Amino acid sequence: MSNIDLLRRTPLFADLPDAELNALAAHLSRRTFGKGMILFHKDSPGQTLYLIESGTIRIFVLSETGQEMTLNVHGAGECFGEISLLDGKPRSAGAVALEQTVTYALHRDDFLRCLHDYPLLAQRIIELLAERLRHLTAYAECLAFLDVPGRLAAALLDLAERHGVKRDANTVAIDLHLTQTELATWVGATREMVNRALVVFRDQGWISIEGQTIKILDMRQLRERTLR
Ligand code: CMP
Repeated sequence: MSNIDLLRRTPLFADLPDAELNALAAHLSRRTFGKGMILFHKDSPGQTLYLIESGTIRIFVLSETGQEMTLNVHGAGECFGEISLLDGKPRSAGAVALEQTVTYALHRDDFLRCLHDYPLLAQRIIELLAERLRHLTAYAECLAFLDVPGRLAAALLDLAERHGVKRDANTVAIDLHLTQTELATWVGATREMVNRALVVFRDQGWISIEGQTIKILDMRQLRERTLR
C-alpha cells in the first residue's frame, strides 16, 4: 500500500486535498514491530502520530505493582498517539504490538503545519478526540455498573464492531491475537473469570472459540447481557 493510500483510508486524513496528502505522505516513516514489542511506555516523550497499515496495537497502563489494564485496541486503518501529538506532553498510556504490526509515523511538526493550513483536519481531530472520550465513558460505565460477564460481553461487542470480520449474515469473527489474559486486563478480572464467562457464552450458543479467534454468533444476546 502506498503512503497516500494509507492516509486516504485513515479517517483523520481521508478528505484532505491530494496536494496535502502528497506532502504528508513524504514525511511518513515506516516501522514494523514484532509481536510483543513495546512501541512506547506511558510517560515517555511523544512526538509522533502512528497510522496502522496492518496488525494490532494494544493500549495499556500499569499499576505500581505491575498490574496491567488494557484501555483500547487499535487495528489497520486506525491511528493512535494523537494525545501527545496535540499537547506535547508525555504519552498518556503505553502501546504494545499484539502481532506483527506495520505502522507509519508522522512527526508533530508536520502534523501541526498541516493543522494550521487545513481547518478540515482540525475538525477531524476533534471528532477523533470525541470518539476517544465516548469510548472511555462507555468503558468507565462498564467497569462501574456491570459484572464480569457483562463487561466481557461489552468488550466482545466493541471488538466485533470495530475490528470484526463478517463471516456470514450472523457471524462476526474477532481474530486479534488477544489472549484470555489480555482480555482479562480489559475487563478488570482474572483470566480464570474470563475463561468461565467465555465458556458460559459458548454453551449458550452466543459465541464459538477456536484458539485465539472468537466468533460472535448472537450479537443480540450479548448486547442484552450488557444491560443487566
Ligand atoms: P498518547 O497519549 O499520545 O499515547 C497513548 C495513546 O493511546 C493515546 O495518545 C491515544 O492515541 C491512545 N488511546 C486510545 N484509547 C485511549 C484511552 N482510553 N486512554 C488513553 N489513551 C488512549
